[in-house]
This record gives sequence, C-alpha cells and structure tokens, in this order.
Amino acid sequence: MTTAVLDVYLTESEWSATLRSDVRKGLTAIPKMLPPKWFYDAAGSQLYELITKLPEYYPFAAEHEILLARAGEIAAASRAECLVELGSGSSEKTCLLLDALSSVGTLRRYLPLDVSEAALRDAIDSLAAAYPGLVVHGIVGDFTRHLSQIPADGKRLLAFLGGTIGNLMPGDRAVFLRAVRQMLRSGEQLLLGTGLVIDPAVMVAAYDDEQGVTAEFNRNVLRVLNRELGANFVPEAFEHVALWDAEREWIEMRLRARHRLTVRVVELGLEVPFAAGEEMRTETSAKFRAEGVRAELAAAGFELTEWWTDTAQRFGLSLATAG
Ligand code: SAH
Ligand code: AVI
Repeated sequence: MTTAVLDVYLTESEWSATLRSDVRKGLTAIPKMLPPKWFYDAAGSQLYELITKLPEYYPFAAEHEILLARAGEIAAASRAECLVELGSGSSEKTCLLLDALSSVGTLRRYLPLDVSEAALRDAIDSLAAAYPGLVVHGIVGDFTRHLSQIPADGKRLLAFLGGTIGNLMPGDRAVFLRAVRQMLRSGEQLLLGTGLVIDPAVMVAAYDDEQGVTAEFNRNVLRVLNRELGANFVPEAFEHVALWDAEREWIEMRLRARHRLTVRVVELGLEVPFAAGEEMRTETSAKFRAEGVRAELAAAGFELTEWWTDTAQRFGLSLATAG
C-alpha cells in the first residue's frame, strides 16, 4: 500500500514571521489591506470548497469542463512523469489529470504544494489510497517563496489551476511566472488556469453569492488574525464587499467597517482604528484576455502551445512550454 509523504518547506516560524510582517504592513497602510493567502486555514480551505459548489461561482465548473474535455490531450502532449501542482487545495479537478496521465502510462509522482497544511493532508491521504503505485509527495509551502526547492526528477508538468494566478498583483505575477520558468527545464510544461473578462454582473455575483458563503470566507481572515495574533476583530462588524474594477480588470474583495471601531492586535502591539464605512482590501482576483495571457507567458519565457476555453468562454486553460 502506497503512503503519502508530506514535506514542510514553510516552517512554523517562517509562517508566523511572514504573517506578522504582512499584517503589520497591511493594517498600517493607507488604504488598509491584507494578502489573500491568509484566508486559508482549515476553516478557510473548507469555505473555499463550499464556494466551488455554489451556483454563482462559475470558475470551478468552467475549468472542470475544460479539463474533462482536454485531459487526454494534455497528458499526450506532456507525457509527464511528475505532476507538480501549486495551490492544489483539495486536488479535486487534478484527478482528471492524474487519470489521463496514468492512462498514458508515464506518471510516477504527484507533488502538490499548498500553504494550507490541513487541505494538503486531507488531499494526499485520499489520493495515495485512490492511486496505488503513484508516489504522492505533498509540500507545505508558499509558491511565491519555495519554487526553487521543488524536486526535479523526471519530466514535469506544472499545473496552476483555479485562476489562483489572478490573486497575485500584476508585478508579483510577472516575478512569479519568471520564477516558474526558472524552476522548469527547457521543454517542460506549464498548465495555467485563468478566469476571463466577462459580463461584470456575472463576475461580481460569483464573489457575492446569495447564501453569503463568500462573505464568510472573506471574514475568515479576521478569525485567523484573532487566533494567531491575539487580535480582537468582531467579524460581524465588517460587511463583505465585492466589486469589479474595470480599469485594472480585477474583482476586488473588501471588508467594510459597519461603524467606527478600534481593533487591538496584542501580538503586534498595534491599535488599529477603522472609520465608519472604511474599507480594507482582502483580495484581488484578476481576470484575463487570451492575448494578455499569451504575452505574460512569453515575457516569462514560455511559448503558448494550446489555449482552451469552456463553451461559455468564461475561463481559459493554457498549455505552455518552457523555451
Ligand atoms: N487549485 C484548487 C484550489 C484553489 S484555492 C482549485 O483550482 O480549486 C487556492 C489555493 O491556493 C488554496 O488551497 C490556498 O491554500 C493556496 N494558496 C494561496 N496562496 C498560496 C501561496 N502563496 N502559496 C501556496 N499556496 C497558496
Ligand atoms: C483561489 N482563487 C482563485 C479564488 C478566486 O476566485 O479568486 C478565491 C476566491 N475568492 C472568492 N471566492 C473565491
């Protein structure tokens, strides 16, 4: 019976130091902001899973539709021995790739990397049971810091799905794509999922669902700060906001203080005042156009070899080769 291995590249002390520095910087900035990676404790990862099942949240279903139709082509084109996945979460859609690569007969190893240890542990245990013979090697890590440590034995396909690349700011995205290119050898491939620019009303609804699951996901970052840094946020004192920024072509999530309040963050020795109605940015989720994706990939040293969308053209999946 195969067992899954879990490596921790992101040590507790590094995790904690990065959280402290991000939160100190973000809560003292004007306007205030928090980076989205801190959403994903065990509860945040579960809330994201619930989001993927919501009728309004089309990106998950759209990318699933593309993978269902194209996994065979992807596997045949890559003939990868090792599938690396960044921000793998529950690895649910990845099973389509694992099945196709197993059918081609080349796949030996699956290396999912995620900052959420809870999500990763759940995923790798069930994958190891479902794919006997496949080496499942989970990595608790930060894809903006630990790419160079990812092992390189056998031909790799690197998957970055879900549109998570859109959660990086444009400058960070360019740095990230160059780092991905640097970690790959010439001829290895990148499979990249990107949400596309579509009707703003449809995009906004995906981030402001009827049931309020996304609102809870958004407020979860406050619970993480309460637990990890001794903060005293009252999550219900903040209203969930989702808007489309047409100039920057991204969805922005914010938390808006319902009234004037002051938050204490004991472990940082910070007192943080919020004016009534003050908004703090918690996530940007960039949406893309085909030409933009091609250009960003080319700038990082990738050649786009395939571009697929779902039938409603809401989501794009790129297969690109490291030049
Ligand atoms: N790939 C899955 C999950 C997307 S949710 C899908 O397509 O549905 C985004 C995932 O990225 C979460 O599991 C989160 O924990 C992870 N993540 C976010 N920021 C990260 C970072 N900087 N490094 C590693 N993982 C990160
Ligand atoms: C993980 N990421 C691509 C999601 C997104 O759509 O930006 C996170 C999310 N935020 C709100 N809903 C889902």
